Amino acid sequence: MERSLLEPLSTGGRTTERFVLRPFRRRDADALYRAVAASRTELSAYLPWAARAYTRASAVVFIRESMRSWRDSKAYDFTVRRPEEPGRHLGNVSIWHLSRTYRSGEIGYWTRTDETGLGIATEAARAALRIGFVDLGMHRLILRIAVGNASSERVAQKLGFTQEGVLREAIEVGGRWMDHSLWSLLDHEYRRARRRRPSFRS
Ligand SMILES: CC(C)(COP(=O)(O)OP(=O)(O)OC[C@H]1O[C@@H](n2cnc3c(N)ncnc32)[C@H](O)[C@@H]1OP(=O)(O)O)[C@@H](O)C(=O)NCCC(=O)NCCS
Repeated sequence: MERSLLEPLSTGGRTTERFVLRPFRRRDADALYRAVAASRTELSAYLPWAARAYTRASAVVFIRESMRSWRDSKAYDFTVRRPEEPGRHLGNVSIWHLSRTYRSGEIGYWTRTDETGLGIATEAARAALRIGFVDLGMHRLILRIAVGNASSERVAQKLGFTQEGVLREAIEVGGRWMDHSLWSLLDHEYRRARRRRPSFRS
């Protein structure tokens, strides 16, 4: 059963084959800070917030804003964890509304550096696609990826996104303007992929 775009999204956790995705809680600040601190070099190459000073207080502010955005039905951030290792933050996946009129949204993700290459971003983002297309009734989801971010482009491809074009100098990361490639996935493409590939169902 699909939900209306204005209904609040359940704050219950979601499980994928290997991971649990759940909203942030205040007590996640230390785990989030540790994951970001251990991944600063890689995150700061492409994510503007990570290229700025990042302290434990930054993690506290992020979590406070994340909880507020969820309450306001604007954006949904998830911490990704292994069920057997619940205190370790593996990465983030987020989905947010762009236009309720046109039922479009955007997703974003990152994985802590010492856990990359294990399929975490792909599996977590696939759960976010389900939330977007099934729970929130979205029609179109986009991803924006800094040009040169080959591993994120690979994630987009594995998720079935199509590259639409390049937005010139669309973000500033650490004082450098970067081009962004724009990718999209439509609800009927997602549904077709789910029918064909069991991995899209989780
Ligand atoms: C991009 C990022 C999210 C990928 O996370 P991840 O958990 O390692 O992703 P996955 O393991 O699901 O998939 C990564 C894919 O990229 C591939 N890859 C890794 N480095 C690559 C490179 N230099 N060139 C091409 N592909 C590469 C991996 O082999 C894998 O593909 P495969 O499954 O076909 O082998 C992670 O590296 C990250 O957080 N980077 C910094 C922040 C960031 O860029 N976030 C995304 C912003 S759009």
